[in-house]
Amino acid sequence: MVLTPKFSAHFYFQVMKDNGFPIPDDEIMLYGEFPQGFLWSTATAAYQIEGGWRADGKGLSIWDKFAHTPLKVFEDDNGDIACDSYNKIDEDVAVLKQLRVNHYRFSISWTRVLPDGTTNYINEAGFSYYDRLVNALLAENIQPHITLYHWDLPQALQNVGGWENETTVERFKDYADLVFSRLGDRVKLWITINEPYNVAMVGHGYGVAAPGISFRPGTLPYIVGHNLIKAHAEAWHLYNDKYRAKQNGMVSITINSDWSEPRNPYKQEDIDAARRVIQFYIGWFAHPIFNGDYSETMKTIIRERSLAAGLSKSRLPEFTPEEIKRIKGTYDYFGFNHYTTVLAYPLNYGNLQHYDGDRGAGTVVDRTWLDSGSGWLKVTPFGLRRILNFIKKEYGNPTIIITENGVSERGPIDLKDYHRSYFYEKYINQVLKAHLLDNVDVRGYTAWSLMDNLEWATGFAERFGLFYVNRSDPNVPRVAKESVSLYSTIINCNGFPDPASGPHDCLKPGPEGNQRCSDSSSGGKNKPDTMIN
Ligand code: NOJ
Repeated sequence: MVLTPKFSAHFYFQVMKDNGFPIPDDEIMLYGEFPQGFLWSTATAAYQIEGGWRADGKGLSIWDKFAHTPLKVFEDDNGDIACDSYNKIDEDVAVLKQLRVNHYRFSISWTRVLPDGTTNYINEAGFSYYDRLVNALLAENIQPHITLYHWDLPQALQNVGGWENETTVERFKDYADLVFSRLGDRVKLWITINEPYNVAMVGHGYGVAAPGISFRPGTLPYIVGHNLIKAHAEAWHLYNDKYRAKQNGMVSITINSDWSEPRNPYKQEDIDAARRVIQFYIGWFAHPIFNGDYSETMKTIIRERSLAAGLSKSRLPEFTPEEIKRIKGTYDYFGFNHYTTVLAYPLNYGNLQHYDGDRGAGTVVDRTWLDSGSGWLKVTPFGLRRILNFIKKEYGNPTIIITENGVSERGPIDLKDYHRSYFYEKYINQVLKAHLLDNVDVRGYTAWSLMDNLEWATGFAERFGLFYVNRSDPNVPRVAKESVSLYSTIINCNGFPDPASGPHDCLKPGPEGNQRCSDSSSGGKNKPDTMIN
């Protein structure tokens, strides 16, 4: 008879070994500063905040259509008005100032500037909005960080196949060209595509985001992913060849991923499943762009499962050797969105031709992890440090900018959002550990989101904002939640000053605290002054 220890046996052994419950290293607060010139930001996206869905000649996007289709979005919410940011540049800049961020990440609505998605007609009124926004930000010394594609594809392009059609790569390149040429004199940080995983899988596999397709889950997401990678690479090359010398900015893609741990860390099958989850998530896009081509894991598994099902070739498209070369290295930094961690175990889907079957893993969460307003988001700060280290190791120590991280709530409005302050303090402290203790080259942090907004298919019910937006008041005012003061203090101190070496001016609220913490004992390192050098 073989006796196999359950996880609880390992746990009990550890308790005895430790003779109690010391605070795990993971949870001990680290005091110290981020490098000089650290990018502190907060983010939004056009469809989630702008409103003005038909204003001044804007064309329709796949999200306009999706949200106007009954039952697609919770309570049939839509972005017609959203936070009315299209009419509220001054208000948005005022709350950014209050936060003390030095950057603001927002996206451009493709159909606001090119109503049918092509350069056949340029909508100047749409450009004027972004022009005014960029100028208003710069006037307050807030640098714009612009996303070109945050999920709102022109419906006119969807009508001819959208991201499934390779011609969309060209359309995206034309659109990028136009935006670089109009705004690149003032904008130095760019993101081509936000979260390609979600575009490919949520929009074209599970079908719960626009364009809402779910009937070829084993092939379409891979085709879409393939074209997204090409579109990103073409936009990067365009900038590199035509704009970099003059504009001197940085262009990259924002890739999202959960961290994944084995459900039972002592079981090899679970360790392997956790690795597959990661390779199929962050690796799907990061591997071709940072290392060259899809990972062996994805190529082998998908080919074998395709052939076993009687197909003549893999469902994962292949890059030609020239394409592999053209795509590899198309980044100036690693844009990274992160929220949560999962626990993985092997799960056999038989020969089901689906991304989930290819990945061959199930995921659960630890029941002790704190909840949020979103079912998928559990509070797991340790995972951020681990995945930052994974990026460092797996993708050749790139410069990383965290382009999103944050937490939601749902239910009654309560401006005392202690859970959010807790979340930001713990997650940002893990970023500090990655920087100071692990030498991860992380140069920026972006809180999602500046304000409550349309959380896609869950509508306005899940609220990620640092500011509450009262949408029943015709003025749609932005109201600070408690977490604004926590986040702005971390920014003001450029980290977490050690109480033992205090008092620290930067911790004081109000204007007299409006000073950088410059405590030399706090471990800050010599890093370049500015992001762009
Ligand atoms: C990812 C997306 O980029 C953003 O649009 C979304 O609202 C947040 N994560 C929260 O789910």
